[in-house]
Amino acid sequence: MTARIIDGKAIAQEVRAEWKVRADALKARGITPGLAVIIVGEDPASKVYVANKVKACAELGLYSEHIALPADTSEATLLAKIAELNADPNIHGLLVQLPVPRHIDSDKILNAISPDKDVDGFHPMNVGALATGSMRFAPCTPYGSLILLQKSGVDIEGKHAVVVGRSNIVGKPMAQLLLQHHATVTICTSKTRDLAKHTRDADILVVATGKPKMITGDMIKPGAAVIDVGINRMENGKLCGDVDFDSAKEVAGWITPVPGGVGPMTITMLVANTVQSAERAAG
Ligand code: GUN
Repeated sequence: MTARIIDGKAIAQEVRAEWKVRADALKARGITPGLAVIIVGEDPASKVYVANKVKACAELGLYSEHIALPADTSEATLLAKIAELNADPNIHGLLVQLPVPRHIDSDKILNAISPDKDVDGFHPMNVGALATGSMRFAPCTPYGSLILLQKSGVDIEGKHAVVVGRSNIVGKPMAQLLLQHHATVTICTSKTRDLAKHTRDADILVVATGKPKMITGDMIKPGAAVIDVGINRMENGKLCGDVDFDSAKEVAGWITPVPGGVGPMTITMLVANTVQSAERAAG
């Protein structure tokens, strides 16, 4: 069996076109959805992510502000900038790219972002809203992964979904979203005993561990839908996921490639959350 490849680029284009219609409708009412992205320091990967976020906004005709602060920016200065953007009516979405330098308390930063503009969905209030089923902003990567499953025709209801990884950015919110869509959900961590026993029982397997190629074909149930959230750079400079694509695709029913799977969806859902926030603000 060879898995159907879930084309994240194509699905992202389709989803972006849907949200562009909504952004254009707001613009026709004189409201341009606006996103502010703050980056502190010079982390090269973060710089690329932030540039791509700003570019995606431009492509959909959104307003964006890219605020690059030096690595030695004080926590107080960053908090003041967040307060300013919280109060700015042209800004509907606001995020601080993580990680922030060590002298800044990231929890304090996430708490300072207005929950109404928290398009990353990382504010504790939005984390709580997701957990209680009254979601306002779903974190972009799990939200995009969910849409990849739905657009690929993967049934979620009643299925066993296994999430490998328990980060606040991906694993935990992914589990919440799957639960909300009536999956039976197992979350595995780096301490899980006999990981393969769990992954082999998954109808839907979402992997977000940051460990290159750790899930191999023999750990996958035949016909399962496999979502690989990992992006790792190998010694030869090429990118690979947390799933060993070559062996996994022989067993899985569906699989996302790396690159070109979950990646394009993350930024798409950020734009979607920004447009949705502007719709709410417009009433
Ligand atoms: N760093 C890695 N992923 C993310 C993300 O989704 N949002 C923010 N703000 N920082 C990140």
